Amino acid sequence: MSSVVVVGSLNMDLVASTKMMPRAGETVIGASFQQIPGGKGANQAVAIARLGGNVRMIGTVGDDGFGDTLVEALNKDKVDTASVRKENDCSTGVAVITVDEQANNSIIVIPGANYRMTIEDIDNCIDQINESDLVVLQLEVPIEVVKHTLVKAKELGKYTILNPAPAQYLDNDIISKVDLLIPNETELEILSGITIKDQNDILEAGRKLVVSGVKELIVTLGEQGCLYLTEKEYKYFKAYKVNAVDTTAAGDSFVGGITIGLMNGLEMDQAIEFASKVGALAVTKQGAQSSLPYLEAVTQFEGELL
Ligand code: RIB
Repeated sequence: MSSVVVVGSLNMDLVASTKMMPRAGETVIGASFQQIPGGKGANQAVAIARLGGNVRMIGTVGDDGFGDTLVEALNKDKVDTASVRKENDCSTGVAVITVDEQANNSIIVIPGANYRMTIEDIDNCIDQINESDLVVLQLEVPIEVVKHTLVKAKELGKYTILNPAPAQYLDNDIISKVDLLIPNETELEILSGITIKDQNDILEAGRKLVVSGVKELIVTLGEQGCLYLTEKEYKYFKAYKVNAVDTTAAGDSFVGGITIGLMNGLEMDQAIEFASKVGALAVTKQGAQSSLPYLEAVTQFEGELL
């Protein structure tokens, strides 16, 4: 079986659950508080591992307790953490997350050690990248690290997947090195510069990215499913009907599902159908890594499409 390297963030998620989100200036009494391992990079690595993938993580944690806990969590899920570096005198990334009863969330990320990742970290791990078939990235580490990784990955002939989250504008140098881009609607809007009001806008924005060099694009649309787009074709896929309690890491679980699907040699259509099940299951549980499903649950899932 092929293997994958995930280059990205590790965060400790500090999660407050509340009946209603506070408005600006308001204090509300919450329902519960939890510390849950998260970070888009680590979540995607765990998602892949739980679905049976051979995965390595390249990332940076601080020298506080959170860093050790996050690495232990990855080890427990059999993610190879030999390339997770500990930065001295630095705090580990944290995400302050509020989730309400309607499963809406708001997230503030304090990058900490994630922003201490350097181009040298990637060069030091070039053998690990070379030994992998796919390279998966997000945007919670410095953009020059993302760019450098993509350049090196393409030099080595690897298949690259970028989940451009949190959203930021990306230049053509980056876009053109991405084989598969997986943005959500907001990220698509920022990347394309096109305001999205309806399905036509989504298509127009997607086509703009494909013209600028992305080979394949999947736009995740929450309950509306997703759109797959290349230069030659496009296709909409429906989402599954589930009782959502928390959408944190829904995107990460979907990226993990697509990645493992491609690693297993599935056609893109089949990989998307598989990833949609993974995403559906993830939103039925609270938290980031705590919500990511195992392969058995996905293969047994018989949901109804919306
Ligand atoms: O995608 C969800 C993740 O975003 C959370 O785990 C949080 O750490 C932030 O990075």
